[in-house]
Amino acid sequence: MASRDEVKAAAGVPRILLDNVSIAYASPRGRLLAVDRVSLAVERAEFVVLVGPSGCGKSTVLRAIAGLNAAESGTIAVDGKQVNDPPEHIGFMFQRDTLLPWLTVRGNIEVGLELAGVPSPQRPSRITDLLALLRLSEFHDAYPAQLSGGMRHRVSLGRMLAYQPAVMLMDEPFGALDFQTKVAMGRELLRIWETERRSILFVTHDIEEAVALADRVVVFSPRPGRIVAEHRIDLPRPRNLRALRTDPAFTAYTSAIWETLGDGDPAAA
Ligand SMILES: Nc1ncnc2c1ncn2[C@@H]1O[C@H](COP(=O)(O)OP(=O)(O)OP(=O)(O)O)[C@@H](O)[C@H]1O
Ligand SMILES: [Mg+2]
Repeated sequence: MASRDEVKAAAGVPRILLDNVSIAYASPRGRLLAVDRVSLAVERAEFVVLVGPSGCGKSTVLRAIAGLNAAESGTIAVDGKQVNDPPEHIGFMFQRDTLLPWLTVRGNIEVGLELAGVPSPQRPSRITDLLALLRLSEFHDAYPAQLSGGMRHRVSLGRMLAYQPAVMLMDEPFGALDFQTKVAMGRELLRIWETERRSILFVTHDIEEAVALADRVVVFSPRPGRIVAEHRIDLPRPRNLRALRTDPAFTAYTSAIWETLGDGDPAAA
């Protein structure tokens, strides 16, 4: 029998739908419009990356999809259901990590497995694998306060990878990582995404990372965030993240995105 998810997918309901969404904050200087009439659909199993200048409203959009910010106008729906509270099956990797300070690295990753309903006896070996992947084996019993910023980020990523929710909202998840770990994490995320067909909405400032990962890159204007361009990335999968960087098609995509980003074009610097 088709699952609830499959019935919805057949009916053509996007995983995430933003229809003409504006979001404002109250600030000491009055209403601050962060996001201006954004319409965006993320399909089932689609990998969409959001790029745009600092402060343009990217995190605001992710928080609104997760039910943590209310839209001032417009509609946000996940699996066809309007978002009022945090939707089920949504995982959020925040820009700032949200590790539980009283749990060790192992304990924090186990939270993800618990959320995913993995029975206790199966958890230790999965955690051990994830720790190796994240290059954290040596620190399995350390507490968050004893870790560097990049290490804390890797633990957050481990919790998300352990949970594997149907919709992953990822806010600059690889921002604080060294290049080698970044590539390893990107490869693991793509591997999971390619086998499990999750929907991912991912924010980054790294244009090469955006092109390497995405089906589609959505470019925001400076605040208030509006969509100024969408680039469909038709590079074959599975992608080899290293080899891609010298592929002329890859370079053409990154240049085109830099162009739509405007002032940030490195050629103009
Ligand atoms: N809780 C809040 N209260 C008031 N204003 C906020 C709040 N959160 C964000 N803002 C404002 O909304 C705007 C958009 O912020 P947001 O964090 O969404 O930007 P961003 O695109 O994620 O930036 P960055 O790339 O630096 O992370 C900014 O001007 C910010 O000052
Ligand atoms: Mg942000």
